[in-house]
Amino acid sequence: MTEAAFTPRVFSGIQPSGNLHLGNYLGALKRFAEAQNQGVQTLYCMVDLHAITVWQEPADLRHATRELAAGFIASGLDPARSILFNQSQVAEHTQLAWVFNCVARMGWMQRMTQFKDKAGKNAQNASLGLFAYPALMAADILAYHATHVPVGEDQKQHLELTRDIAIKFNNDFGVDFFPITEPVIEGAATRVMSLRDGAKKMSKSDPSDMSRINLTDDADAIAKKIRKAKTDPEPLPSEAKGLEERPEARNLVNIYAALADKSVDQVMAEAGGKPFSEFKPMLADLAVDKIAPISTEMSRLMQDVTEIDRILANGADRARAIAAPILRQTYDIMGMVGPREL
Ligand code: AMP
Ligand code: TRP
Repeated sequence: MTEAAFTPRVFSGIQPSGNLHLGNYLGALKRFAEAQNQGVQTLYCMVDLHAITVWQEPADLRHATRELAAGFIASGLDPARSILFNQSQVAEHTQLAWVFNCVARMGWMQRMTQFKDKAGKNAQNASLGLFAYPALMAADILAYHATHVPVGEDQKQHLELTRDIAIKFNNDFGVDFFPITEPVIEGAATRVMSLRDGAKKMSKSDPSDMSRINLTDDADAIAKKIRKAKTDPEPLPSEAKGLEERPEARNLVNIYAALADKSVDQVMAEAGGKPFSEFKPMLADLAVDKIAPISTEMSRLMQDVTEIDRILANGADRARAIAAPILRQTYDIMGMVGPREL
């Protein structure tokens, strides 16, 4: 397949299932805004149907979806330039997901580490939706013929499966219909670690709130969490190589680099050799500078949920206009009888 056959189009999604944190911002949201600002077509989705693969209180889901939309906008996504919507408003996602449930193989799903992590010890009691999760994710992407998907490192395996589904569909039906999507996992912070444990990913499900910086934290909370972040007693090394065996130090340097739009080497040139008593205040100032305005803007936007709902409805209409003809053509390739005008 020639890549050039598909117009560049960027798609990504985030689950409305709790607090947005610094990992989501640096691994995903900030990079969503960069893609938008490069002028390609961008679609960003609140994947509520993925969220319900584990239990969600209805009132919490409703709040989290709107707050996520506010987080998208506060992070620089412009509803006029990017299509912002929630997944359950565009039925083509679930329709195409069913097709992909029939393309993907049980063995492919069984290998997914996120399923194993989330299902835990009692996999028999996990929802069927949690198992089929990656087929819905492939549908999210391929319903738009998206060519590029910015995500954090933890989504790599799911994106490989998306490619496998596209390849198998194209081969089975002898077509060049679905693009082989490129994951875009770039920058210094594709895997932001917990502030309490450099071996664990920063995550919304960590019981300790001190482990993460939430996008809803105010300036004091942000500064305090950085001040208390776990480190080792040594000063920063003078070059990046010296960070290899020092996960907590490396994490703070990576966060600094990503927030400052600098390379790790540039940060080491500025801060190499400094003790944490100097580096942490530098990082805290930078983080407050970049994150506190997002938090303020999110609470401002949340004061008018009618406006947020209007933005999402408008986004859904624009998303459907792209996805509906692609679904229709998929059905036609597969031999389903339907309207002829494609
Ligand atoms: P989720 O909230 O799990 O739906 O994740 C939304 C996006 O944030 C995905 O692109 C993830 O890869 C990314 N992400 C989540 N946690 C982290 C982290 N600790 N570091 C970097 N990216 C992350
Ligand atoms: N699985 C992703 C996560 O947990 C969320 C997601 C759903 C997604 N559909 C997507 C990401 C499509 C990128 C593209 O983070």
